[in-house]
Amino acid sequence: MLVTNNIDEIRQARWADPTASWGLVPTMGALHAGHLSLAERAVSENDKACATIFVNPTQFAPTDDLDKYPRTLQHDLDTFESAGIDLVFTPTPDIMYPAGFGTRVLVDGITDKLEGEYRPGHFDGVTQVVTKLFNIVQPTRAYFGQKDAQQTVVLKKMVRDLNFNLDLIVCPTVREADGLAMSSRNRYLTMTQRANAPVLHAALQRAADMIVEEGVRNAEKVRQAIRKMINQTPEAKLIYASVASGVTLDELEKIHGEILISLAVRLGETRLIDNLMLKDVE
Ligand code: PAF
Repeated sequence: MLVTNNIDEIRQARWADPTASWGLVPTMGALHAGHLSLAERAVSENDKACATIFVNPTQFAPTDDLDKYPRTLQHDLDTFESAGIDLVFTPTPDIMYPAGFGTRVLVDGITDKLEGEYRPGHFDGVTQVVTKLFNIVQPTRAYFGQKDAQQTVVLKKMVRDLNFNLDLIVCPTVREADGLAMSSRNRYLTMTQRANAPVLHAALQRAADMIVEEGVRNAEKVRQAIRKMINQTPEAKLIYASVASGVTLDELEKIHGEILISLAVRLGETRLIDNLMLKDVE
């Protein structure tokens, strides 16, 4: 496995065989089983697979503690190697954003809702760095997790709007046995918070049951049920509970079509997100 922070080396490897298909797995490191599943899928569906490890400063707010973001480089490289990744790009901020850098990629309409409302500018940083990674690696397919649902909706729109020549593949959320979605932030939970954290998935599951099994079509009723479950959980503070269109991310009154049920919850100091997507609700 080649590990490099050199863009020319990435390009040379990428174009050594122009007929080879390439999968790309962009990450910020601190890998868990969710990332591993993306890497394995990229390896299995392409001739070659490239992963990137870069804690992108432009998607963090000045108030976020960028320096505290977990960095586990050797573990991450071992994980990618075991998955069969061919190439890992590990740039520094100076390589990605050299002096004089000043270009942004703004996706209108959907970046200021849900997560974007609470993390202004976050998705502008994501689209900026992912555009650069797409241009550097020029993958055939790029792999992202459903766990960051809004990120996938934003990036899909960017790919469509800017005619990127690649398939964006969204892979299912990987969960612990009790339903908690894998996240690099789970490591910050105390034992009690960890014991309570599966409530996020339980609340989403309850919401999905109301819609699919019980035929509830009033979105506010579903949001209320989510709020109730979170508010009954010790140490949990609901940030938002959303039942929105999976395409426009607008909050719904009447449930119909592709639905994104999502929530953000603070458990002590740790902010967790999770979601479920329902297709073709009639
Ligand atoms: O999902 C992430 O880890 C990041 O947002 C990404 C896509 C690697 C861009 O920095």
